[in-house]
Amino acid sequence: MTTFETYLESHKGAMLSDDLVTVLRNVAEATRQISDRLRTSSLDGLTGATEVTNVQGETQKPLDILSNDILLEACRRSPSVSFAVSEELDSEVAIHADGKHAVIFDPLDGSSNLDVNVTVGTIFSVIEAKTSADILKSGRGQLVAGYAAYGPQTMLVLTVGAGVQIFTLNGDGIYVLTNADAKIVPDAKEFAINAARRASWEDVVAAYIDDAIDTGHNMRWVGSMVADALRIFNRGGVFLYPADRHKPASGGRLRLLYEGNPIGLLAEAAGGAAIIGDTAILDVQPTSLHQRVPVIFGSKAEVDKIAAAYAARVHEAAAE
Ligand code: AHG
Ligand code: MN
Ligand code: MN
Repeated sequence: MTTFETYLESHKGAMLSDDLVTVLRNVAEATRQISDRLRTSSLDGLTGATEVTNVQGETQKPLDILSNDILLEACRRSPSVSFAVSEELDSEVAIHADGKHAVIFDPLDGSSNLDVNVTVGTIFSVIEAKTSADILKSGRGQLVAGYAAYGPQTMLVLTVGAGVQIFTLNGDGIYVLTNADAKIVPDAKEFAINAARRASWEDVVAAYIDDAIDTGHNMRWVGSMVADALRIFNRGGVFLYPADRHKPASGGRLRLLYEGNPIGLLAEAAGGAAIIGDTAILDVQPTSLHQRVPVIFGSKAEVDKIAAAYAARVHEAAAE
């Protein structure tokens, strides 16, 4: 049996510094605590919404705040952490003055699914950042990234630069390796998109979805990217959250630093792809902490097809 702990130990050195091992251990422990709190949240009155609106303009749920606090504690327990960046915090929070790792997280992804007992998750990414100016770097600079999905089982999906591993939390609160080499199959006839937003899709996306439906693709949409991503790691397919064509500058719904980048690193490490259009998500140079980007990821052949359609459109526009 390989546990998360033995996995970390065996990658210490060449792949993971001692400091990073400590960060990962503490972040994983935070996800175990969050998982624990979620199990009885309605019994504990942790339901509904609070009166607080976050920097995204979204009303925070009690569990958004609790999960954020648990992750901040995990950062404080990690001596190498310089900054924490979170969906639920206006700006970066300084942790240890002599630290060098920024931990960037979405404490609870899919939190609109909380009260309906549908899978939610915690997404995280670690980069090197000694000063706050170092935080805005492209996703290629991520040292490790992953997410926990709190569903019927709690799973931890991780990349430290050696493919993607999936761990499952056992009854003793220990993450056990259950997939040592998760791969996204290159082709799969399944897509995930919020179809209610069709009127705002860009032409490329509408054309792709029309063609997918015409050629017998299936549709699944959980409304928690972490859960949709787990399905894609299991059996392939593509997830799309495009920009709103009426507000292209808004960049879409999902945030680059703590949603697009970690999922992009995982997707590429599993043999899939992740794009914002004709560009890989990981190549986007961030301009602000909470910047939103279109997110399209999954089976490489499907994502490549969409990227090619975007590139052709750019080409046509240039010729006009
Ligand atoms: P968050 O709960 O962190 O704000 O993120 C929710 C995201 C993502 O998980 C999901 O895929 C998407 O928002 C759902 O969007 P819709 O509300 O348009 O379904
Ligand atoms: Mn989210
Ligand atoms: Mn969230």
